[in-house]
Amino acid sequence: MAAVLEDTPTHLQGNGRPVTEEKTISELKVVGSIPSELDGRYVRTGANPLSGTSAHPFFGDGMVHGVRLRDGKAEWYRNRYIQTPFIKNPSVDILDPSVMMDMKSSKANTHVIGHAGKILALEEGHFPYVIDGDLGTIGPTDFGGALKGSFTAHPKICPVTGELLAFGYSPLEPYLRYLRISASGELVQTENITVGGPTMMHDFNVTRNHVIFMDLPAVFNLELAMSGDMPIRWDDDYPARLGVMPRDGTDEQVTWYDINPCYVFHPMNSYEDGDTIVLDVARFSHMWRESAMDFPSPELWRWTINTVTGNVSEEQIDDRGAEFPRVADSVIGLKHRYGYMMAMSDLGADDDPTNTSGAILKYDRDSGKRTEIEFGPGRMGGEAVFVPSANPAAEDDGYLMTYVYDASTDKSSFVIMDAATMDNTPLASIELPRIPNGFHGSWIPASVAN
Ligand SMILES: [Fe+2]
Repeated sequence: MAAVLEDTPTHLQGNGRPVTEEKTISELKVVGSIPSELDGRYVRTGANPLSGTSAHPFFGDGMVHGVRLRDGKAEWYRNRYIQTPFIKNPSVDILDPSVMMDMKSSKANTHVIGHAGKILALEEGHFPYVIDGDLGTIGPTDFGGALKGSFTAHPKICPVTGELLAFGYSPLEPYLRYLRISASGELVQTENITVGGPTMMHDFNVTRNHVIFMDLPAVFNLELAMSGDMPIRWDDDYPARLGVMPRDGTDEQVTWYDINPCYVFHPMNSYEDGDTIVLDVARFSHMWRESAMDFPSPELWRWTINTVTGNVSEEQIDDRGAEFPRVADSVIGLKHRYGYMMAMSDLGADDDPTNTSGAILKYDRDSGKRTEIEFGPGRMGGEAVFVPSANPAAEDDGYLMTYVYDASTDKSSFVIMDAATMDNTPLASIELPRIPNGFHGSWIPASVAN
């Protein structure tokens, strides 16, 4: 392990250390067997500060790491910086107000999706960045001039219509815009939505007929912005609400439901069930109350909105800490049986990272059962992405993919696990250089973007 300087921020220690070299590796060692039906790319982004340091885990420069699979082979691994203004001019400050409001000044460090033939690298304050199939940067997109503000890192692709449902939030009015993009990639609807203030809305929820906004008490704070700190803090006086709107609706059609104060970065999924709307979410009791590094433990909760009585029931599903929830893309907005989350298992009594094992949790929401994959001592996985088999016989008939970091070798691997059996042994493990901790990614089939 490389020596860590005493003043290195926690998020840049261990496997938080950024990597400096962009690599292309075509001779990859594989243990096990890559399913030959997998034809596409797994691409994940993360915050990898070019300067070597960053003031907050969310501020680093976006670097994508990708693996191309075809015909049972791993054709390549690549990592590339997204060529944002911060890479071209490293002295640009993300907290400079003129930079924050320049929609091309994305860090592109939060999520990667494939939609309408394009691969988009996303961050929530700015325009998406389009990248090509070799992870090279094409440039920012405003959907032909139609996008007038920021674009979330967590848009949702409806598996029924192919639409991309999205939003953008802003510290300045309008604080929230709803965005609906057609299956062919045109931004066809923009609606200003009235929220309680400049809330940090990281993600949202979709069902077959509705979208649900989360208006929660992590809000933009001008004083902090002026002082150069992360400009968002918890506000005990800000009401927590869920706003339900028809997918082609307007601000006047939003129905708001009060909930208990909390913060949710990431829902697992949501769906309609008669007169109710069910939302499974990774819920934090609060967020950034003391500082912007105040992250309590998130757990899986279920909110059930009764659209007739206006009541919202809030049920804690599990007390085990877990985040980065995902479901199969085929059930987004529809009733899901299975959801997957990232967790850690403490294998020992001290803080030695080699006594911790990364885990993928699988929740069966019908039976209430939880099963897990353990990666083993010192091996930490990232967000698990579900990829279906070619002709799936069940919702969980497919694979879970993620990068796994091994503290004992200081290297990473790309693993393909069996989602149905949750066997601890990967179907295939592709040996890679070290891939730092990151955020979100997607499996992008060759049929979607090539
Ligand atoms: Fe996220």
